[in-house]
Amino acid sequence: MRIGILNSGGDCPGLNAVIHGVVGAAHQLGWEVIGFKDGFEGLLPPGDYCTLTPKDTIGILKLGGTILGSTNKGHFAAKIGVGNVAEVPKEIINLARHTIDQLEIQALIIVGGDGSLTTGLQLFRLGWPIIGIPKTIDNDLSATAMTFGFDSAVTTVVDALDRLTTTAESHKRIMVLEVMGRHAGWIALWGGIAGGANVILLPEIPFSLDKIAEFIKNREAHGQRATIVVVAEGAKMPNGDLVTIDKNCSGEIRLGGIGEQVATRLQELTGKETRSTTLGHLQRGGSPTAFDRILGMRFGVMAVNLAQQKAFGRMVSYQAYHVDSVTIEEAVNKLRLVDPNGEVVQAARAVGICMGDS
Ligand code: F6P
Repeated sequence: MRIGILNSGGDCPGLNAVIHGVVGAAHQLGWEVIGFKDGFEGLLPPGDYCTLTPKDTIGILKLGGTILGSTNKGHFAAKIGVGNVAEVPKEIINLARHTIDQLEIQALIIVGGDGSLTTGLQLFRLGWPIIGIPKTIDNDLSATAMTFGFDSAVTTVVDALDRLTTTAESHKRIMVLEVMGRHAGWIALWGGIAGGANVILLPEIPFSLDKIAEFIKNREAHGQRATIVVVAEGAKMPNGDLVTIDKNCSGEIRLGGIGEQVATRLQELTGKETRSTTLGHLQRGGSPTAFDRILGMRFGVMAVNLAQQKAFGRMVSYQAYHVDSVTIEEAVNKLRLVDPNGEVVQAARAVGICMGDS
């Protein structure tokens, strides 16, 4: 048996742990693993790939990034925004199929987010032996309670907040931290709670700057002169606008800049010195946490199990502390958003965190 693996979309801590899991489990079965470079692009003739043996994966469990490379642009981009699906052209698929046939690949493991798994679904419907592994720091894929990479991103947010808090307290300032997550507020919510934020602004909860200013003035009146605000890049300004930079090569909007806008308005409304920091791609880089190393490795092993059962068209999924699988069809094109009335948001409110709406 010979199987292929590729990473597609933005990188994410834990990708190498997945490769480690796939290669280790396949080796136990006496299978060969081919790693395609730079996502689906590696499938295009003449093919850009390498054979992966356990010797090639020594020490990669702890490494950030991916030894295979990845891309969120190129010939296979299938998503151009929420709910918008663009089919990969037939000619491109035929070219890639030629590589798969020539190499006699009997299962192709795609490690990707919503867009890459949507491409995977298109290929599966055309008869390809596809198995999906969900990947994104945003943790916004439906049909899995957790994606690897999320815990590492949250840990980076917490580290940043620990550092910003000391300056906020020394200077009695408002410090605003903008974090990633695209249209979902998971990173902001979890990172904000764990990092001791006083205000957390999410895409899922409309906020009022006046309400936040009132909350900050009230803190001031009670002697708490420093305030930490975490804002998700996908939160909307009170007029309903997303703050965007531009569009990426696939035509998808790039979010960014809301932190600065919130900081400017809060300084005007409170009269307090305010600074803004955008954490950006620091959240995607560096070594995965222990949790993400283990989850990534387990996802890789489960993908090999699915290949052994010829359970194609399925995506590895994490549910209730257990790694299982669901159909790719039920996993893609549905964002998993924070429930504004859910238990975690309620817990944040219960300890006095302002969500901008109260
Ligand atoms: O989906 C992961 C993510 O890091 C988002 O949180 C962020 O909005 C986006 O990717 C950034 O993409 P790029 O690396 O193309 O700027």
